Amino acid sequence: MESAGPSTHHIVPDVTSDSMTSRDYYADSYAHFGIHEEMLKDTVRTGSYRAAIINNGHLFKGKTVLDVGCGTGILSMFAAKAGASHVVGIDMSNIIDQAQKIIEANGFKDTITLVKGKLEEAELPIDQFDIIISEWMGYFLLYESMLDTVLLARDKYLKPKGLIFPDTAKLLFAAIEDQDYKEEKINFWDNVYGFDYSCIKDIALREPLVDTVELKAVVTDPYVIKEINLLTATKEDLTFTAPFSLVATRDDYVHAFLAWFDIVFDCTHKKVKFSTGPHAQYTHWKQTVFYTPSTITIKKGQEITGEISCAPNKRNNRDLDIAISYAVGGEEEETTVDYKMY
Ligand SMILES: C[S@@+](CC[C@H](N)C(=O)[O-])C[C@H]1O[C@@H](n2cnc3c(N)ncnc32)[C@H](O)[C@@H]1O
Repeated sequence: MESAGPSTHHIVPDVTSDSMTSRDYYADSYAHFGIHEEMLKDTVRTGSYRAAIINNGHLFKGKTVLDVGCGTGILSMFAAKAGASHVVGIDMSNIIDQAQKIIEANGFKDTITLVKGKLEEAELPIDQFDIIISEWMGYFLLYESMLDTVLLARDKYLKPKGLIFPDTAKLLFAAIEDQDYKEEKINFWDNVYGFDYSCIKDIALREPLVDTVELKAVVTDPYVIKEINLLTATKEDLTFTAPFSLVATRDDYVHAFLAWFDIVFDCTHKKVKFSTGPHAQYTHWKQTVFYTPSTITIKKGQEITGEISCAPNKRNNRDLDIAISYAVGGEEEETTVDYKMY
């Protein structure tokens, strides 16, 4: 009987990324198509970039564009379709081998030049660009983010008065009621088949959780803890301490803080923006949950005040050290929790 499935003996590896092993994929996490599939299928993400670029042909027509971290080349192709005179896409991952085939298959060979390498070390075929496009955002906006690279690209390659897509990012904060899930994820360690595993509870609590949160769990107004203007921000701005004040919208209990980010393409004609918050359509960034050691009781109108600080970890600058200090209703007693995203 003939098999209905594809026959694998026809597949002959012809370039490096086709012959990668699991160890290579571990070292080059962007090389596998799966991560790009997730990003491409995130229609909020990719659709927003498409709208910002394609619907703003008047900004792209005849312009040179640098795509920082081009991946499969999707943003480069949007820019070429929007009328850019030339696009340079750079990526340090082997996925760029596929991107080269993709741009050729779609007729962009003459308009898009791809460069394989780390932006920080590469030689680009054009010295100065009119526009930089990049999708650099990580969980909690800054975790494993490549914003430093985009800022470096701006300082080295963007013409004076050049544009950056997107150009504004905001990090927001709120408090949530999350009894059931906290029970499942944190308090679970108190009693594992009758044994005391509580040493892990403390570690689990300090590791922020990336997950989707329902809007009805949010019990305070949101608060903007950080706004980044990509045209002016410096690398040093990405290490920060910011105060917050969260006003309760109802009587309830608080089990965690919640963070998410909003992105704006401020230079577009009709401003393109999207949010990764609990009120918005799902994105692969979800939201980030920071469980508190004990439950907080709040009354409508009462404030939780405090500050959040965020810094790249000294030993591994892709990890984030986040500290949250808070007090309820003007009380003097403050709680501080050190979290680590890694
Ligand atoms: C979030 S993905 C975005 C891919 C693509 N632009 C898209 O929108 O689908 C970021 C890409 O940037 C690349 N990257 C990260 N840091 C880089 C650096 N310093 N130099 C060059 N490429 C980098 C990664 O390999 C990855 O493919």
